[in-house]
Amino acid sequence: MKILILGSTGLLGQALASSLSLKNFQVTGVARKNADINIDITEDESLLNVLKNDDYDVIINTVAIVNLKTCNDDPGLAYKVNSRPASIIANYAKNNGAYFIQISTDHYYSGDKDLLHKETDNIKLLNEYARTKYCGEVYALTSPKALVIRTNIVGFKNSESPTFVEWIVNNLENNTSMNLFNDYYTSSISVKQFSNILYDIILKRPAGILNISSGECFSKEAFIRALADKLDFSLGNSKSYSILKSGLTDRAESLGLDVSKAESIAGYKFPGLDEVIQEICNEYKNK
Ligand SMILES: NC(=O)c1ccc[n+]([C@@H]2O[C@H](COP(=O)([O-])OP(=O)(O)OC[C@H]3O[C@@H](n4cnc5c(N)ncnc54)[C@H](OP(=O)(O)O)[C@@H]3O)[C@@H](O)[C@H]2O)c1
Repeated sequence: MKILILGSTGLLGQALASSLSLKNFQVTGVARKNADINIDITEDESLLNVLKNDDYDVIINTVAIVNLKTCNDDPGLAYKVNSRPASIIANYAKNNGAYFIQISTDHYYSGDKDLLHKETDNIKLLNEYARTKYCGEVYALTSPKALVIRTNIVGFKNSESPTFVEWIVNNLENNTSMNLFNDYYTSSISVKQFSNILYDIILKRPAGILNISSGECFSKEAFIRALADKLDFSLGNSKSYSILKSGLTDRAESLGLDVSKAESIAGYKFPGLDEVIQEICNEYKNK
């Protein structure tokens, strides 16, 4: 099976490319640099040329500007990267029978603590990241075969800018104190666990919106404490902290996802916090 991964050098793209290559997929990766094909996907002609380059069975779009401030500072750029390419890909996929997977976000829920949100629950669009990601979902679903995946991913990637997990580990190694958000909830899953689940989901070809994440929702504080504990680091002067009292009002913070629909398609339970932490520790120790 031939698969095209847009954003193959990112946190999720790297994990998907290595995991799916080990299965029976022939993977082609795309980014602006250091990928199999280097293009800017905001340029329509370049994007279309890549799509037509081979007879891809599956196209996965992981490309996004994930930095909230960058999106808020330049909504036009956020739209060009997070939204518009999904419409070009959906149109191509619809006409060529490809299975299109648009990676979306969980950044849609606020004010209901650790509630697990279903795919059909009401959403709130609090910032340009959420607005442009949601627009990308709508565009993707213009192809009847498209799957939009809402998720929250964590892990390691080889790049200059640290991921959330790399930031935590750096702080633990250097004994640097952190603000531990006790009211910022996510259902984070490691990118490796996500990639293995996605492989099983791809074989079933569901369409529509699907949550794929940890089966549990936990605070950032609980995540960091569990990781520090498992890696045997002290949290030193790190303190419990409220995101709701910090003035960061344009952030969604109740990001729990209900994965029961995806679990019933996959046929098994998704990892809880302990299994996610164990996976991150294994990857840390193998680095
Ligand atoms: N990270 C999270 O916490 C998180 C949480 C929930 C959902 N998500 C979603 O998961 C997906 C993957 O996120 P991620 O953290 O893996 O992102 P990432 O690490 O920032 O990777 C983004 C990828 O897209 C490429 N890219 C960016 N702009 C491009 C452009 N104009 N043309 C071509 N390629 C471009 C990047 O490579 P170049 O820069 O070299 O082009 C990179 O390969 C996104 O859709 C995001 O919204 C992420």
